[in-house]
Amino acid sequence: MIVKRAEFEISAVRPAQWPNDGLPEFAFVGRSNVGKSSLLNRLLSRKALARVSQKPGKTQQINFFVVNEAFRFADLPGYGYAAVSKTTRAQFSKMMGEYLTQRTPLKRVLHLIDIRHEPTADDQFMHAELMQLGVPLCVVATKSDKISRGQHRAAVQRIEKILRTPYAVVPVSSQTGAGINDVWTMIEADLET
Ligand code: GTP
Ligand code: MG
Repeated sequence: MIVKRAEFEISAVRPAQWPNDGLPEFAFVGRSNVGKSSLLNRLLSRKALARVSQKPGKTQQINFFVVNEAFRFADLPGYGYAAVSKTTRAQFSKMMGEYLTQRTPLKRVLHLIDIRHEPTADDQFMHAELMQLGVPLCVVATKSDKISRGQHRAAVQRIEKILRTPYAVVPVSSQTGAGINDVWTMIEADLET
């Protein structure tokens, strides 16, 4: 994919704020700090279009980005971050629930899992919920630069097994760019159907 234009559009807290021109959309979902915003930046070859932080809980709204005036990325707030208040967590989960069930232009959800760790109970719960939605998924195993190449296969198999997913698990590194083309290939194929 040649990214000619990539623009941040809006941080939405309610459905009325979602862009509504119907462009196909790809959502990035995963635990806080798993690397959603970093992956989005890497795909778009932009350093800081989406805000990245070492502190989990950085993305607190649904951030929409339009690419080549042809499709969108939606960066969702991370789940599973214990240090945010109960009220905030309840708001996040309401926002995500509304988005995932009501967002008609959604083409695929990219569910991000840290390649270094076993998917947590939160990850397993989220994946099961996502499978219920009926929207196509993909599992992206993030931060692949943090383990050696030789460990990739076992890590991917562990994720497949624990999530009990029929979907492909794609290892990526937003740091080195490894696997980024695989993600683009999938997005391009989705855009053609
Ligand atoms: P929230 O917005 O809090 O939900 O987090 P997020 O999922 O958007 O994560 P973010 O992209 O902000 O990244 C969290 C941290 O992980 C940052 O310190 C990033 O630099 C780091 N990180 C993200 N992707 C990678 C990667 O591929 N490799 C390495 N080594 N670090 C990464
Ligand atoms: Mg983020």
